[in-house]
Amino acid sequence: MKEGVSINGETRLYGVLGHPVKASLSPPMQNTAFSRAGLNSVYLAFPVDPKDLPQAVKGLVAAGIAGFNLTVPHKTDILPLLHETTPQALKIGAVNTVRVDEGKLYGTNTDGDGFLSALKEELDWEPAGKSVLMLGAGGAARGIAYSLLAGGAKSLTIANRTKEKAVALAETCQTWGASTEINALALNENLPPADLLINTTTAGMGDGLSPIDLNQTTIKEALADIIYSPATTPLMTQAKTAGLPTINGLGMLLHQGALAFEFWTNQKPDIPKMRQALNQALEKRGF
Ligand code: ATR
Repeated sequence: MKEGVSINGETRLYGVLGHPVKASLSPPMQNTAFSRAGLNSVYLAFPVDPKDLPQAVKGLVAAGIAGFNLTVPHKTDILPLLHETTPQALKIGAVNTVRVDEGKLYGTNTDGDGFLSALKEELDWEPAGKSVLMLGAGGAARGIAYSLLAGGAKSLTIANRTKEKAVALAETCQTWGASTEINALALNENLPPADLLINTTTAGMGDGLSPIDLNQTTIKEALADIIYSPATTPLMTQAKTAGLPTINGLGMLLHQGALAFEFWTNQKPDIPKMRQALNQALEKRGF
């Protein structure tokens, strides 16, 4: 494998569009992947105000961008700008990855499958036949719910601070036609036992909070938090004390990026090196 390709007249451009985007860890991760694959490509972060998204995308495509990621707040607003969208991303209603081919834009969503890849890689855990308790009903929860249903989970309970949002997401999940049993609750209700607990809420992201007390439920197999900063949330600490295997959100970030790289290049990236780049970038920030 060739490393350290230098930028020249043939360098292909990739990037991430967000607002704000300067804290994104995708540039170090994806530039490492391109470099390890010997591809003459560069990946940059573009701060794009929501009102400028159509103009920014049009300009980048006209200037030859080969692919890009979308992060908050653009994942839904990109949909009308695309020529083709995978059925999965259409159902989730959000796109995080776009490939540009002869001026046409192809969108997909790698967030939920990235989450499942992390569970498989780090805990050898797969959803088929399992019961899942998922905390939160926002954008991240939606993508993860889709992949859990597609992966054949036996049951999914969505518990959210605002119960109506859990009910609305549960209703959306029903329309996806999977055989998974789906329920919606408020976080402070009696929570059912489950094989896997997932935290998709932002509680624990530097605020010292936990979305629930682990004693509200009985978790049999593992906890996955999608927060990666801090590396250990208060909920993860409780789970570790209870002897449960836990993962944080770094694996999801890594694997959604690895799947995006594959969508652009049709090649498998060097995942261990991408992980190393993420860890180094986090260390530099003092996390
Ligand atoms: P994301 O795209 O990361 O999912 P989001 O769509 O803003 O972000 O969703 C944030 C989620 O965290 C929501 O489920 C939110 O609950 P509400 O729907 O009640 O707002 C949840 N959340 C945020 N702060 C929380 C807190 N302190 N305790 C519990 N849940 C919280």
